[in-house]
Amino acid sequence: MDTKTIAKAVSGLKGEIQIPGDKSISHRSVMFSALGSTPVHITNFLHAQDCMSTAACMQALGAKVEFLSDTELIVTGNGLHGLKEPDMIIDAGNSGTTLRLMMGILAPQPFLTTFTGDASLHKRPMGRVIKPLSQMGAKIFGRQQNQKLPITIVPAEGRFQGMTYNSPVASAQVKSAVLLAGMYAEGDTTVVEPFTSRDHTERMLEAFGVHTEKQGTAVTIHPVDEFRAPKEIEVPGDISSAAYWLVAGAIIPGSDLMLRNVGVNPTRTGILDVLKDMGADIEVLNERTSGGEAAADIRVRYSRLQGTRFGAEIMPRLIDEIPVIAVAALFAEGDTVITGAGELRVKETDRLQAITDQFNKLAPGAVEGQEDGLIIHGGRKIESAAAFSYDDHRIAMSLAILGAAGEGVTIERPECVNISYPAFYQTLEELR
Ligand code: S3P
Repeated sequence: MDTKTIAKAVSGLKGEIQIPGDKSISHRSVMFSALGSTPVHITNFLHAQDCMSTAACMQALGAKVEFLSDTELIVTGNGLHGLKEPDMIIDAGNSGTTLRLMMGILAPQPFLTTFTGDASLHKRPMGRVIKPLSQMGAKIFGRQQNQKLPITIVPAEGRFQGMTYNSPVASAQVKSAVLLAGMYAEGDTTVVEPFTSRDHTERMLEAFGVHTEKQGTAVTIHPVDEFRAPKEIEVPGDISSAAYWLVAGAIIPGSDLMLRNVGVNPTRTGILDVLKDMGADIEVLNERTSGGEAAADIRVRYSRLQGTRFGAEIMPRLIDEIPVIAVAALFAEGDTVITGAGELRVKETDRLQAITDQFNKLAPGAVEGQEDGLIIHGGRKIESAAAFSYDDHRIAMSLAILGAAGEGVTIERPECVNISYPAFYQTLEELR
């Protein structure tokens, strides 16, 4: 089996890191540009497998996608009604964002699309998007009573109807799919969430001249006739990638890291709140905005952490960071109690199960898995061991930080970091 061994970082991690482009924003930059009719120059695009899946999808639908370098591209669409029927099955790879947002864009189109993806994506629930889109008029068919891939979308009979959708989950992917379909609908479309999820779709639509209205946790979109592409989109760095360095810097004695160009959109900064609450030494510097998104540099230095508790309300603001926050909790004094995290069971893998089973190999007895969360006993003895990634990028990177902070780790199936952070292992070595 393919493995990677990470040694203990004996004297801490030090240096400066350019954080790679935000995954959520990179996906949206290509999708929305492909619906415009003038070229969009995208910079700091995340050159990783998930976003390349989106670029390939948009190309298959007729958009022109030209890479000038790994992280810089020009996307030219044929207008909001200019997508063409793909010649082949569309492959979303490992990417839930690609599949769910594309379903919102494609359900109102007058042609057939069939989607596939990798083994992980075939297990993930798609009914949460198919159900509201069907209520708007979509004709979507999927395995297991319209729940799972493969999925085929056929043209709707008549125009989409706007509606108010009360989403049972706080999910930016569900919200975005319904709002994007709402652009093509008759009448207004509103999505109400239990808690506000990331708002990159709403912010980027604004850059394309499409205004959405927010009231509490509800977002409304009106039917769209004009979709004006901006000339430039600059993608800020991904706080979900910065998260590994935030935790590493906070828990490895002797560390002092400067993270450059981190997106600090308030719908994403839950990890900063939780780490600060645990006593982390974090400074947010040079705050600025670029393309409707906030960015900053962040300095993190080692300090002693305490356990904490948090739950459903903050969850959408740190959902992808739970595995690495769980690593921080192992090195904190006292217990950390995480509730309201049931969504982790339907990510790239069941992350609550993965954290419990794999972290306990390195910190025996430290993690108690709960139905919708985790109890983590900090300060337990950490050992060197082999642990499995489940081919989940965020589990692999969290295990690497756990090993570097602890006594080393051998990661089984480490290559999945290419989904969101291809340079991750190299960067970790450079900071020693
Ligand atoms: C994302 C939304 C979140 C997140 C995912 C990216 C997005 O998923 O976990 O990594 O770009 O909209 P959910 O919407 O399912 O919570």
